[in-house]
Formats: sequence, structure tokens, C-alpha cells
Amino acid sequence: MIKGKKIAFYVTGGIAVYKAVDLMRELIKRGAEVRVAMTPSAGQFVTPLTFQVLSRRSVSVDTFSEEDPSVVNHINIADWADYAVIAPLSANTLAKLANGLADNFVTSALLATAKPIFAVPAMNANMYRNPITQENIRKLAERRVTLMKPDIGFLAEGYSGEGRYPEKERIISELELFIRSNQTELPLEGEKVIVTAGGTRERIDPVRYITNDSSGKMGHALAVEAWKQGAEVILVTASPLAVPSYIHTIRVESAQQMHEAVLEEFNDAAAVIMAAAVSDYTPETRETQKMKKKEDLTLRFKKNPDILKDLGTKKTAEQCLIGFAAETEELVSYAKQKLRDKHADLIVANDVSQSDRGFNSDQNEVTLLTKTDNPRTLTLRDKSEIAGEIISWLINYID
Ligand code: C5P
Repeated sequence: MIKGKKIAFYVTGGIAVYKAVDLMRELIKRGAEVRVAMTPSAGQFVTPLTFQVLSRRSVSVDTFSEEDPSVVNHINIADWADYAVIAPLSANTLAKLANGLADNFVTSALLATAKPIFAVPAMNANMYRNPITQENIRKLAERRVTLMKPDIGFLAEGYSGEGRYPEKERIISELELFIRSNQTELPLEGEKVIVTAGGTRERIDPVRYITNDSSGKMGHALAVEAWKQGAEVILVTASPLAVPSYIHTIRVESAQQMHEAVLEEFNDAAAVIMAAAVSDYTPETRETQKMKKKEDLTLRFKKNPDILKDLGTKKTAEQCLIGFAAETEELVSYAKQKLRDKHADLIVANDVSQSDRGFNSDQNEVTLLTKTDNPRTLTLRDKSEIAGEIISWLINYID
């Protein structure tokens, strides 16, 4: 979502400026082009040089130091950017923006900004709660500025309150949501996509279960990538991993629960991506009390529903089914068999016998198999990139 975007990054004065350095680096790491401007008071906390070195671009502070005669710098940055991000936004600059003041480089550039603006207010709790600040927040929110809610927590003043600069992960997640809501004509707009993730847990008794090594990382990455392309995503997950707040998430434990949750959502779904490692078997009986130690123990298992196979018999011609094949041998031939047996449109085959890919790893290497095309291998790369490729395949398929 952030990749390739031009972001004008405005820094205003407050102790959280040092945290804004990290946010700016994260935006660059995610592929954004970033230009920084600071208020003079922001420069009291961290020097412009820090931002300059890390962004590898000059940082604007002074409205009147126009080095390039062919442009007016504060108008140029406003026109250049796709989005403006203000982090941290001080009570002072917030008040100026709410009242249309343009008394330094940052406020002048922001007054000249016709692009969407995202702001991260951070200040003392009493300043934040002051009715004047709240009125200014309302004024800006009614216009074109999206303001995050600050965290409640330990402040620089040594006490706890509302006004704390939020964690980077929360800022990125809300920024992605903001960018997506400002984009039009995304390819999966209006399409419902169900993604399953994680290894199911099959209970033996209240404290014991059988499961597998699946972490849920691949499924969660697919949910995020589908969302970025405009889909309404339903993530049915057996993984305890955190999920961005904008993804509608249904937490399940067993294969049976996953089956029920997927069927409930299936009728109006355009696609189902079964990335979950669903346990094939479940204990025949589940003890209601913790089992006592015995000399030996035999457990009997019964077969779980095969969710993908079941969907394969129910799906309409318009619905797309994507399955995964986690194998330790004969990857492609087993995957081809799955494509046929389960009536899937795509099988993503991955080798789970190596520690640098597949289960639990941050990276994967997969082979895509369809009924019509030659197998295509996506060599070892981050799961988010693999997810992006799979979603691109889905977009082409739906088209
Ligand atoms: O048959 P196998 O388990 O190897 O097939 C893997 C694919 O089938 C995966 O997409 C997995 O999510 C799905 N599956 C399922 N229900 C099961 C077992 C696997 O939907 N009980």
C-alpha cells in the first residue's frame, strides 16, 4: 500500500520527534519516496541533518531559503506528494492548521496541500483534552485531515494520560487503511475473499491438543494483500498472530469450527484461499476432564471434513478456489492430484521439509499449478511478496 507512494513527511515540535525518525525510515523501507519538512521547534529535538542523512534528501525548514529558483519550495512539496503525513503533530501546529495559518514552511506547505493529509497528534494529556484542542481536532477532521487517536500511556512528564505518540505498528496499520480509503478503482473492489490460516488444534482433553507447525504467516499475508487490492476480506484463522484491525477476523480452533465459519461466509464469496494447515484427523472423543496418567494410552482418531474438497463440490463457475499443498516429497505430482481431486482453480505447492521456507518461516518458495498453465515457480522470497503474486493471479483469474 505504501510502496511507490510519494509522501511529504512533516515533523513538528514535541519530544516524540525522535520516534518520527523511525517512522520515516519504515516508510522508506516499505518503498515510499519521502521528502521531509520540519518546523523550527522540531529541529530543537532532532536536527534536520538526522532526517536528511536517513532520507538522503535535503530537509526543508526555512520558507525563505529558496535554493532552486525554478520552484517555490513549499508549494512544490505540496504538489509533488501523493499524501502528506504529519508526525508528530503538536498542539501548536494543530491549532495553526485548524485556523489556516501559514507562518512557517510546514504550515505554509500544508495550507497549500490539496492531497489527503494524515496526522499523528502527540502532546501532553491536558493539552490534548483542552476543549480548544478538541475543537481544533473536530475542525480538521471535518475537512480533509485524518487524525489518529493518540495512545493512552506514560508521558514524558512522568505521568500517564492520553496524548502519547502511538506505536509504529499502529501508525503504519492506520496509514495503510487511510491510503486504501483514498484510492479508487482497486481491482478487487466489491469482491469478498475468504482466507484461512494457521494450523488447526484438535482437542484431546481441556488442556491437550494435536496440531502442526503452521504459523499462519502465509495466510495472514494473503489476507493483507487481498485487502490492499480492495477486497472485503474475511480471515478465518487458527493462528494466534496479530491481525491489522482493518481485516475482519474470525478466530477458530478446530477444523470443524473452521469448516462452519467458511461455509457461513461462502455463498457470496468471489474466492476462498485455503492457506490453513487443516488437521486431517481429530480425536474420536474429547475428554471433558484432564486425562489421568496411565501405563499406556491409545487414542482413536476420526477424519475431519476436507473443507477445500467440500467447497469444490459446492462452488459456482464464478467462484475461485485456491488450495495449498504442503509436501515433503514429490511436490508437483501430489499438487496436481490435489488440483483434480479438490476441484481447485489454483494449488500453491510448497516444500515443508526445509527450515528456511514453508511452515513458520518468514519466507517461502512455491510452485503455482493450474488446470491450464505450465507450473510456475516463485523462488525463495518474503511471504508478503509470495502473497502479492498469488493475489495478482487471482485478479487476472477474476477478470
Ligand atoms: O489434502 P491436503 O491436506 O494435502 O490438502 C491441502 C489443502 O486442502 C490446503 O489448502 C488445506 O487448507 C486444505 N484442507 C482442507 N481441509 C482439510 C485438509 C486440508 O480444506 N481437512
